[in-house]
Formats: sequence, C-alpha cells, structure tokens
Amino acid sequence: MANPRIAIIISTTRAARFGEKPAKWIHAIAAARKDMSVELIDLREYPMPFFDEPASNAWVPSANEVAQRWQRKVAEFDGYVFVTAEYNHGIPAVLKNALDYAYPEWNRKPAAFVGYGSVGAARSIEQLRLVCVELQMAPTRTGVYIQGGDFMAVWQGGKDIEELSYLQKNAKEMLDELRWWSAALMVARTKSSTVEATATA
Ligand SMILES: Cc1cc2nc3c(=O)[nH]c(=O)nc-3n(C[C@H](O)[C@H](O)[C@H](O)COP(=O)(O)O)c2cc1C
Repeated sequence: MANPRIAIIISTTRAARFGEKPAKWIHAIAAARKDMSVELIDLREYPMPFFDEPASNAWVPSANEVAQRWQRKVAEFDGYVFVTAEYNHGIPAVLKNALDYAYPEWNRKPAAFVGYGSVGAARSIEQLRLVCVELQMAPTRTGVYIQGGDFMAVWQGGKDIEELSYLQKNAKEMLDELRWWSAALMVARTKSSTVEATATA
C-alpha cells in the first residue's frame, strides 16, 4: 500500500503570526518518518473570501476559483494535521472558513492537531474536533499542546520548540495514531467505493 499523504496545515494567516514555527517543527518530525508522505500547506496561499457560495460544495460546485483550487488541494490527502492557535477561545476564523469551503474532500479521513497558546489552544481544538465530526472526519485522541510557559518561551523568549524534548514523544504518539487511521481509512474508502459501484451497477 502507498504511504498515506498527510497535509500539515498552517491555520492562521496574519502578518505577525507565530503559526509557521510549530508547523515547520511538526512537518520536520513527520517528514523524517518512512510511513507517510507530508506536505506543508499554508492558508495564506488560498485567500478565499468569507464563504459566499449558494451552498456547501457537498451540494453545489463552488464558483470561486481559489476555493476550487483549495478543494483540489484538500482532495490530494489522506489525513491532516491542523496547526492552530485559539482566537478568543475559538477556532481562527480563517481556518473555519477554509473548512467550510470543502466537504466531500474531507470526508472519511483523519485529523490531528497541534495547538499553541496559553492552554495550547485546547479550547479551540475541542471545537475543531466537533467541526471535523460534522465534516465526516475522524479526529485523533492525541494532540500536541504547546502551552503556558513553554509557549511564552518559544513565542517571546527565543527558545526553539526542539528544546522542548517531551513534545517529541507526544508528537510521535499523535503521528502514529494519524498514520493508523489514515492507512485504515484509505483501505475502507477504496472498499466502500467498490461496494457502492457494485450496488449501483
Ligand atoms: C484575536 C486574537 C485572539 C486571541 N485569543 C487568545 C485566546 O483565546 N487564548 C490564547 O491562549 N491566546 C489568544 N491569543 C494569543 C495567541 O495565542 C497568540 O497571539 C498566537 O501567537 C496567535 O497565533 P498566530 O500568531 O499564529 O496568529 C489571541 C490572539 C489574537 C490575535
């Protein structure tokens, strides 16, 4: 079986963002593994307007060309790592918008989470898990939460995330889980499309 293709998504876009630091950190760890292929995806490269289509693309194809390009990119992957902050205890709006701009492309695929902030974006990630369920995704139990003094030390104290060695074990556990679900659901998607094709033949 081919390696699962995993997208690591930088989920904030503001000019002074911190998000790419943890994204590059988890990307390097995932890219060193032999059991998955990874790509870093930056929402800045998909500047979509606030959702302005007649319906979700589950029902009506999107007219916006950036949205179409985003949907094609999302469709390329078998699993996702959302690297996210929390904005006022919620999901950054740009991430929610990007999630809303696709639907079938997310279905039956797993999602894992790397959060950063005062509580490691745990509150935002719990909301994100619920959104993922509605998108018919499988959220992993394990996430990586860069929080409190550790977050401050990296954000403003000049510390490298690599120096937080306990996070390595945590990241491995999360990626192991993501790999398991990605591989299992790749097989299941293939089988179910065969079953569906047979049923309609
Ligand atoms: C609009 C806004 C709201 C924020 N709300 C929270 C919050 O609820 N909890 C928290 O821990 N940090 C909060 N912060 C601080 C962020 O954790 C910190 O700025 C982080 O770097 C934001 O991610 P970004 O740099 O990738 O945009 C907030 C920051 C912004 C800009």
